[in-house]
Amino acid sequence: MEKNFNRILVTAALPYANGPVHIGHLAGAYLPSDIYVRYQRAQKRDVKFICGTDEHGVPIAIRAMKEGVSPQDVVDKYHKIIGDSFSGMGISFDIFSRTTTDTHRQTSQAFFRKLYDEGLFEERESEQYYDEEKETFLADRYIVGTCPICSNENAYGDQCEKCGSTLSPDQLINPRSALSNAKPVKKMTKHWYFPLNQYEDFLKEWIVEGKKDEWKSNVYGQCKSWLDNGLQPRAMTRDSNWGVPVPVEGAEGKVLYVWFDAPIGYISATKELLPTSWDDYWCKEDTKLVHFIGKDNIVFHCIIFPAMLKAHGGYVLPENVPANEFLNIEGDKVSTSRNWAVWIDEYLQDFPDMQDTLRYVLCSNAPETKDNDFTWKDFQLRHNSELVDIFGNFINRAMVLMHKLCDGKVPAYHEAEQTELDISLIKEIVASKAKVEKAIETYHFREALFEVIDLARKGNKYLQEIAPWSLSKTPELKAENQAKIDNCLHVALQLCANLAILSNPFLPFTAKKICKMLTVVDRMLEWENAGKMDLLKKGYPLRAPELLFRKVEDAEIEAQREKLQANAKASIILAEPEEKEAELPEMKDIIEFGDFEKIDLRVGTVLSAEKVKKADKLLQLEVDMGFEKRTIVSGIALHYAPEEVVGRQVVVVANLAPRKMRGIESAGMILMAEDAEGKLIFVSPASMALAGGGVR
Ligand code: MF3
Ligand code: ZN
Repeated sequence: MEKNFNRILVTAALPYANGPVHIGHLAGAYLPSDIYVRYQRAQKRDVKFICGTDEHGVPIAIRAMKEGVSPQDVVDKYHKIIGDSFSGMGISFDIFSRTTTDTHRQTSQAFFRKLYDEGLFEERESEQYYDEEKETFLADRYIVGTCPICSNENAYGDQCEKCGSTLSPDQLINPRSALSNAKPVKKMTKHWYFPLNQYEDFLKEWIVEGKKDEWKSNVYGQCKSWLDNGLQPRAMTRDSNWGVPVPVEGAEGKVLYVWFDAPIGYISATKELLPTSWDDYWCKEDTKLVHFIGKDNIVFHCIIFPAMLKAHGGYVLPENVPANEFLNIEGDKVSTSRNWAVWIDEYLQDFPDMQDTLRYVLCSNAPETKDNDFTWKDFQLRHNSELVDIFGNFINRAMVLMHKLCDGKVPAYHEAEQTELDISLIKEIVASKAKVEKAIETYHFREALFEVIDLARKGNKYLQEIAPWSLSKTPELKAENQAKIDNCLHVALQLCANLAILSNPFLPFTAKKICKMLTVVDRMLEWENAGKMDLLKKGYPLRAPELLFRKVEDAEIEAQREKLQANAKASIILAEPEEKEAELPEMKDIIEFGDFEKIDLRVGTVLSAEKVKKADKLLQLEVDMGFEKRTIVSGIALHYAPEEVVGRQVVVVANLAPRKMRGIESAGMILMAEDAEGKLIFVSPASMALAGGGVR
C-alpha cells in the first residue's frame, strides 16, 4: 500500500574522511541519490538531501599517526577534497556536514545518554590489550605482529593484509603496539553493549514481513540472512582518544563506536540545516526517509541503526534503503591501497565540463543488481555513440534545421496537416513522462535513463523519416511543403524541451544548456511540464545551437588507461602490499626438513617436444636427465610452442611416481612459476648447470 508522504528525507552514506572519493562511491550511493533528489525537487516535493563526512574511527587515527599529523588535520583535508569532488560533479546536497561538529557531538551524546539512562545498555568487562608506555588501550588494528599463517611481520590484530587471513590479536606472534612498539599487556576494560538480540522480533516483522517486495532483493537478502543467523549484543563504545567521548561517568578514554555515531550524523546534519524544523523530517510519520548506500553498509542501515532509532523512540524508520553493489574497474576490484581507482578530483581535472558524461556512464552502467565493470573503452563508447550520436545529435539537428528552414523561430503546428508520424511521436513523448517517473520512483535509474535516450532515438528516427531537408530542395518545393516542415520542427523542438526536463535529474549540466538554447528559464524543467507539447510558443525566437558534447578521442582513453596502470605500479613500490598479495595462493602447512629432503630435484635438458593429441594444454617432452632420458608430459602447451622449449635446461622433480596422462606415462614434473599475467615461466638455472645434477 502506498503511503501518503508529505516530505522526503534523503541521505547518502557519509564517506570516511581518510581519502578522496572515486567513481565506485559515486556509482554506489551519490549519483543515484542525486538523481532521485533532483527528480523530487522537479516534482516540487518537499525534499532534503543530507550528507557529510564520517570523521571518526580507527583507520583515520592510524592514518594520522602514520603521517605524523593530528586526526583533525586528516579529516579537514579530506572533508574539503571530498566536498569539492561532489559539488564538482553536481551532487546537490542541501548540506554537506561532518561528524566533528559540536551539534553532532551533542546529538550523538544525547542519543547515547537516553539509552543509557533507560538502562538499555549491558555493561560488560573484558580483557583487552593495553599499551603501558602510552597508557592507552589498543584497538585490534593498533596491534602488529607476525602472522601465524604466512609469517608476515606486519600483520594487524584483526587481519593480515599479506595473506588476507582474518585474525584476532591473540593469534599474532610477538605482538607489539603500533603506537610505541611496546609489548602490549592485557587489562580489564568496560564497554556498553547494545542488545541487538532484543530487537530481532521487531526487525523480523518490519523487514521480513514488511519490506520483502519493496526493498531491492540484494538488500532484503542480506538482512534476511543476518536475521536468520540470530543477532548478538554489540559493543557501542571503544577505548580510543579519537571520537565522540562517551557521556557517562567513569568512561574516560572511551569514545562512541564509529558506527554508533556516524548514522546519527544524518540527524545532526539535518539539525544544522534546519535548526527549527529538523524534527519534522525525523519524527513525523508522514516523512519518507530513504538511505542511499553501497552494499557494504547494508547491515548498519537496515538492522543496527533502525534498532537504535526504535530503542530511542520518536524517530521514523527508513522507508527504503536502495543499496548498490560494487563497481569494478577494468575487470579488477577497486582498491585504494593499490591505487586501482578512478578518482573524482582527477577526473574533474582531466575532463572539466564533462561531468554529465561520467554521470551518464555511471548511471547507464550502474551496479544496481550485481557488481559491474567500468572500462574506459565503454566510457568512450557510451559517450560517443549514445550521448553524442543520439542525444546531442538530435537536439543539434532540430536546432540547425529550425534555423535553416523556419527562420530561427518556433514554427506553428498545423493540425490539418499532421501525419501519422507526427501523431505517433507525440504519443511517445506524452507516454515517456510516466515511464521515467515510475522507474525513478522505484529506484530503477538505469531503466529511467534508458527511456530518456530512447526518446531521443525516436526523435532522430522521426527526423530521418520526414527528412525536412528533402522537402525544401528548391524554394518552390519548400513553399509547397512549409506546413509539413513546420509541423516536423515544431514537434522536434517540443521534444528538445521535453528531453531537457526528462534528462535534468541525470544530466543537469546538459539540461541547463538546452534551456539556454531554447531561450527558456530553468523553471521550465519542472516535472509537471514533461509530456506537454506547448512548452515552446509559436514564433518564439531561439538561440543559435551550441554543441552539447564533443567526441572523446582514442588518445584520451589511452591516456587514462595508462594513468590507471601507472598509478597502480607506483603504489606497489610506495605502499605496503595489501590486497594484491591476497590473490596469491594460501600458504601450505609447515613441513619438516626431512620432508623436503625426500624430493629429488634435478637439472634436465629438453631434447624434443611435441603437442599431445586432443589435449590442448599438454606437451610431451623428451628430457635428458644426465643419467637417463625420460618422457615427461607437461601442462605448458598454452604458453609455449614445442620449438620454444627445445634445448632448455629445466628443473625436474625426478622421483615423482610415474603417472599416465592421455595414455602417455609421464616420469617426473617440470617446475614452473607464474608471472603477473598468469603466464607460466620456466624455473631454470641462471647459467649452464651440470646435466642431471641435484637442485638444493
Ligand atoms: N563511512 C562509512 C563508509 O564509508 C559510511 C557511514 S554511513 C553512516 O562505509 F550512516 F554511518 F553515516
Ligand atoms: Zn598472513
